[in-house]
This record gives sequence, C-alpha cells and structure tokens, in this order.
Amino acid sequence: MAYKTLLACILLSLISLVASQDWSIAEVKAAFNKAKIPEDAFITFNPKLLLEVSFPGKSGRPVKVHAGEHVHRNDTAGAPRFTLVGGLPRHERYVVATVDLDHPTPQDPSLAQVRHFLGGNFRPVWVGPKQQLVNTTAALSDWFQPSPPEGSDPHRYVFLVFDQPASWATQTLVTPNTTILQFNISSFAAGVGLGNPIAGTYMHVSADY
Ligand SMILES: *[C@@H]1O[C@H](CO)[C@@H](O)[C@H](O)[C@H]1NC(C)=O
Ligand SMILES: *[C@@H]1O[C@H](CO)[C@@H](O)[C@H](O)[C@H]1NC(C)=O
Ligand SMILES: *[C@@H]1O[C@H](CO)[C@@H](O)[C@H](O)[C@H]1NC(C)=O
Ligand SMILES: *[C@@H]1O[C@H](CO)[C@@H](O)[C@H](O)[C@H]1NC(C)=O
Repeated sequence: MAYKTLLACILLSLISLVASQDWSIAEVKAAFNKAKIPEDAFITFNPKLLLEVSFPGKSGRPVKVHAGEHVHRNDTAGAPRFTLVGGLPRHERYVVATVDLDHPTPQDPSLAQVRHFLGGNFRPVWVGPKQQLVNTTAALSDWFQPSPPEGSDPHRYVFLVFDQPASWATQTLVTPNTTILQFNISSFAAGVGLGNPIAGTYMHVSADY
C-alpha cells in the first residue's frame, strides 16, 4: 500500500512537472509559423530555449502565456516576468522585447509594430531548472498594457529574447523618448547587432475579453 502511494506520488509530481512547462520548442516554432509571425515581424525564428511569460494577474494568481492562446486584457495590466527553460546559460545578459504586430487592426496594421516593452541587462537567476530573468537596469520602454481598439480583432503580442551584445550599452536607436509606434524589431535588432531571437512566445489580446 505504502509502495503504491509512493508510486502515485512520483507519478503525480512528474505529471505536474510536465504540466508546468510550456510546449516544446518545436510546438512554439510551429505556432509562430502558423500565425505568420516570422514574416510579419521580419524575423528568423529558430529558438534555442523556451520562454515562459507570466503576468501578475488581477487576483494575484500568476497568469501564464501559452504560445498562441488568448489572454484576458484585465490580466495584462502588470509587467510580466520572463523565464527561460530548457538549456544551459548562453549569455550573461539578455534583451527582451514585446511588440504588437496588429495595430490598429490585423487587417490594417499601419501603426505597427507597437513597442510594448524593451529592456536589456536581464540577468539569468537559476530557480530549479529554469533561468528567471531579472532586470538590473530600467527598461528603455516600460511595460505598456495591450490596448487594442474596440471592435478590432485580437492582436498578436510577440515576446522575444535576444543574447545581449556589448554594443547594447551604447545603442541610441531607441531611448525612453522614442515613440512606441511604427517600431521595427527586425531593423532594431540588425542595427544593434542582437542577432536572431533565441526564445519567444506570443499571445492574443482583445479590447474587452
Ligand atoms: C475587466 O476589468 C474592468 C475594469 O476593472 C471591469 O469592468 C470588467 O468587468 C472586467 N472584466 C472581466 C471579464 O473581468
Ligand atoms: C526593473 O524594472 C522595474 C519595472 O520597470 C523598475 O521599476 C526597476 O527599477 C528596474 N530595476 C532596476 C534595477 O533598474
Ligand atoms: C527625453 O525628453 C526629456 C524631456 O523632453 C529630456 O529632458 C531628456 O533629456 C530626454 N532623454 C533622452 C534620453 O533623450
Ligand atoms: C523592417 O525591417 C526589415 C529589415 O530588418 C525590413 O526588411 C522590413 O521591410 C521593415 N518593415 C517595415 C514595415 O518597414
């Protein structure tokens, strides 16, 4: 009996370990391709690690982003936390960006991309098998809550992590005063020398659900 209980416990903890992971890297990549994110963001997306994005949530219970799923706008007010899963540390510092590809509407994204977050100097802190990313300086663009206009179809909000090059410290392409509209993560990454993103995920958010 005790043996069976022990087995059940081990099984349960294995199941919860698997359930607490996002999808596999292959599934995230497939979701990006299906949503046409690489072509619409002009990026090459061959992730090396999984990215977990977690919002504080309205009730204080964290709300995790799963690639391609809808997140209620009310849960996106607070700045998200970023965690890398599934690999050894690649770098001492990372850059994290969030862009809306669909402003004002997916049918006419004339003001896209909107830069909803851009920050560097994220240091990996090991928490079990995961690398939680902790900012060590203020962001260039602080978290700006998704705000699609009423009546618009849901927007795609894309989170990307890059290895941070030494040139980050001296980049001037984006300052805290740069407009967040009509941003281009691809030309920004090329201009700063960020290379291709090493991890990413995305969510859909609507005006009122
Ligand atoms: C979202 O938040 C607004 C403002 O606090 C509230 O009026 C609305 O009922 C909330 N919607 C849901 C579905 O929780
Ligand atoms: C990290 O980011 C938060 C939110 O933007 C900010 O309040 C805090 O000052 C930043 N930490 C450092 C060390 O700059
Ligand atoms: C941003 O604008 C403020 C006020 O106009 C100015 O004082 C500040 O120097 C500017 N900062 C940068 C980094 O350009
Ligand atoms: C964004 O930048 C890339 C180059 O990195 C360019 O090919 C693309 O046309 C730009 N997109 C827009 C909408 O300007």
